[in-house]
Amino acid sequence: MSFRMLLSIVLTLMVARLTLSLDNGLARLPPMGFQAWVRFRWRTDCDLDPKNCLSEALIRTMADLVVEKGFKDVGYEYVNIDDCWMATERDPSGKLIADPIRFPNGMKSLADYVHSKGLKIGIYESMGYQTCQGFPGTFEHIDDDAKTFAEWGIDFVKMDTCHTPRGQLVSEGFKNFSRALNSTGRPIVFSCEWPHVGPHPDWDTMFNYCNTIRNGRDVQDSWDAVTSIIENFAKNQVIFKNVSGPGRYNDPDQLIIGDYALSYEQSKTQMALWAIMAAQLLMSNDLRDLPAWAEDILKNKEIIAVDQDPLGIMGQRIVNETRMQVWTKPLANGSFAAVFFCPFHGIPYDYTTTPRKLGFHTGTIYKIRELFEHKDLGTFQTDDSVTVTVNPYGSVMIRADPVMSSHKPGTHFKINPL
Ligand code: GLA
Repeated sequence: MSFRMLLSIVLTLMVARLTLSLDNGLARLPPMGFQAWVRFRWRTDCDLDPKNCLSEALIRTMADLVVEKGFKDVGYEYVNIDDCWMATERDPSGKLIADPIRFPNGMKSLADYVHSKGLKIGIYESMGYQTCQGFPGTFEHIDDDAKTFAEWGIDFVKMDTCHTPRGQLVSEGFKNFSRALNSTGRPIVFSCEWPHVGPHPDWDTMFNYCNTIRNGRDVQDSWDAVTSIIENFAKNQVIFKNVSGPGRYNDPDQLIIGDYALSYEQSKTQMALWAIMAAQLLMSNDLRDLPAWAEDILKNKEIIAVDQDPLGIMGQRIVNETRMQVWTKPLANGSFAAVFFCPFHGIPYDYTTTPRKLGFHTGTIYKIRELFEHKDLGTFQTDDSVTVTVNPYGSVMIRADPVMSSHKPGTHFKINPL
């Protein structure tokens, strides 16, 4: 064998190795942005509902508002289109195309527009024959579709599993699409959605191919959906925590704050717990029409900082009582965050604990701050008592930063309803 041949074999093997695992350097922090699905769904008739149909105009407007309303300034970056963006058939050459009526200028032009705002754009596909809503799936088109997305300038792909042919392993589909995305050379976040039925995969291995993994049922615009996702995360928290970290995050699904279902208190809970779980924060709401309180919750920089903490550790539920759940999350530089969530009806409940019971470092003095009220609560030593008052279905969220200063006793604090 000539030296040239040997060199070419070695180089080929190196390239093959490079495209074997998802080492794309992306999603070091949980991705943040807007996702169209829960709020806009399958609205495709623009004659009937021009304001809300899934279209180029809608996505442009959402991108405009991410910037104009200050969401970009606090970290929301991706503008993600979900299902129903495609024409019902591929073009004659087999290439995916956007619906020509609703996206008259095509995806490349829309991507250029979103990029011109300093944002990134996401798209949706399913690895089966069809997407969940019956549009062309990526089965047998994996390499071509990955190339098409890269050519358009897509930055984020959500991959669903609807209509995967019988006998086809879902895990193989994720692997193949991940490799195909890597081979395009374009940095594209790969967000996988594991099907809700059947045995769960080896999540650790799957994270070699996916930056984020949806590991539970769809969020709906309902409090029940939010609480059942919270329960699923709590039930699997050891497994989920151990497999996640920078570049690989569990996905409890979209934020529905500002939609129809959640009250003010319930919205605080979704934001606080998604942040404590180091979840991707993809809000699915109508940015044209958000109540001011919902905007405040979504743009709460102190809570976003907990979500975006560089350690990327998923928080855990450490107390699960009828009237109170406590979740804690270690943060960089020896800090901690904790959420006190009241899952019970009735009246505001008091809960008393100590830094020791919360699992903070023994012997360290902490400055504790409430993150919804933006209030310093004082400094606390290991066995000082901390009492929080939490409204039904609501949450109080604290951050504890170690301090060297002398100890000043903390105070009882009460968070009043609106
Ligand atoms: C599935 C997903 C949703 C959404 C729809 C689109 O149900 O779980 O998040 O993408 O498909 O059809």
